[in-house]
Amino acid sequence: MADRETIGVIGTGYVGLVTAAGFAELGSDVWCVDIDADKIERLKAGEVPIHEPGLEEILKRNAHRLHFTTDLAPALEAARLLFVAVGTPPTHSGDADLSAVNAVVDAMPASNSHALVMKSTVPVGTGVTVKRKFAESGKGFSYVSCPEFLKEGSALKDFLNPDRVVIGDDGDWAGDAVAALYAPLNAPIQRTDIASAEMVKLASNAFLATKISFINEIANVCEETGADVVEVAKGMGYDERIGSAFLRPGIGFGGSCFPKDVSALKQLAGNSGYHFQLLNSVIEVNELQKRRVVGKLEKHLGTLIGKRIALLGLAFKPDTDDMREASSLVLAARLQAAGAEVSAFDPIAEEAARPLLSGVEMAESSMSAISGADAVVVVTEWSEFLDIDWVAAAATMNGVTVIDGRNHLDGGSVRAAGLTYEGVGRGGDPS
Ligand SMILES: NC(=O)c1ccc[n+]([C@@H]2O[C@H](COP(=O)([O-])OP(=O)(O)OC[C@H]3O[C@@H](n4cnc5c(N)ncnc54)[C@H](O)[C@@H]3O)[C@@H](O)[C@H]2O)c1
Repeated sequence: MADRETIGVIGTGYVGLVTAAGFAELGSDVWCVDIDADKIERLKAGEVPIHEPGLEEILKRNAHRLHFTTDLAPALEAARLLFVAVGTPPTHSGDADLSAVNAVVDAMPASNSHALVMKSTVPVGTGVTVKRKFAESGKGFSYVSCPEFLKEGSALKDFLNPDRVVIGDDGDWAGDAVAALYAPLNAPIQRTDIASAEMVKLASNAFLATKISFINEIANVCEETGADVVEVAKGMGYDERIGSAFLRPGIGFGGSCFPKDVSALKQLAGNSGYHFQLLNSVIEVNELQKRRVVGKLEKHLGTLIGKRIALLGLAFKPDTDDMREASSLVLAARLQAAGAEVSAFDPIAEEAARPLLSGVEMAESSMSAISGADAVVVVTEWSEFLDIDWVAAAATMNGVTVIDGRNHLDGGSVRAAGLTYEGVGRGGDPS
């Protein structure tokens, strides 16, 4: 493979590590910098601190191209493009917390030959502010906005096969250099201005979250009217203008991106004098959706005081160990507040979940979580839950209720085991 440009990646979380692995796979040497010394030590020792399918293999295969350090200096020496992938979590107000991004900006030395390439999701206007900071402090850095669209659980696949690459720049060398790095992926590359690139990311996530809240509301109406949302979504999805993706109802979206990016866009709009009415509803519907499960359980069980509820899946989605903003957190807290005992099982996220779920009994398997339960709730659609033997499970349960928060199970086999099955939005379904 031809020599490829050496790059730096600042922040080795979900996005940074996948970006580093992806560019190493394409032939670049990558200097990965993180302030978390423990994480860097683990990475140096060949350990992968997050669960992401295929990541361990690709990091191992490209170990000779990957360098891990807590020190910016060697990255600055080796690379002119520094990809920034530090966290931008929400503040109490819902604005994006840019303190990690600002720490990176402040740590940059004076240089006319480097560029920061922003992969972190930031409010529109961040690039302009950073550029002004660089200019005022005589640092001469270039700046490129290159938002990341990968999805946890399929992050490497998404990085290497993106629907599009968006590059916002001011027309200097750095935008072309970033475009050249992505060229082998054969994805559409949109070259645009920095503010528009920043907005593409926020608007895309806000739109996807809107689609989820919309189908969740349709599901709720289906439950009241006897329609089946699975059939409804199928029929809607045939329409090219709508598309079938993101029309699966559930118990609300979570994760590190949708909730924070929707509120960051809402706040950004508000701060610039525009009231983004629609996003208020998207957020509210999502919160209510997480709570609907409790109502369903009360419908089946009466009071939840002293009842044992088993949660299957804790991560915010399958194939990840990420617990940030997971619906399971809200649900477990609501069930405990209603007096229920909660047991739970997640195939991968147990370690990340344990400190967040005090009082929840963590089980070693789905069967042991289910054993003695008055009701079971499917919270995350892990594929291994499809293999549960419901006849065996029913024999160990104290009750008969199975609430499928993701329409993941085959309701017929659950019912055949003598259990009561209720999905989301399956109004015509017997329960
Ligand atoms: N996770 C996703 O699915 C996803 C997808 C697209 C975009 N994004 C965006 O990418 C950004 C990163 O998200 P993430 O999920 O990878 O975050 P993360 O929390 O997993 O990782 C952030 C990393 O940055 C490190 N860090 C913090 N401050 C630093 C500093 N000053 N110098 C060096 N390292 C520092 C942290 O130690 C951590 O390892 C966020 O803005 C997020 O919104 C995330």
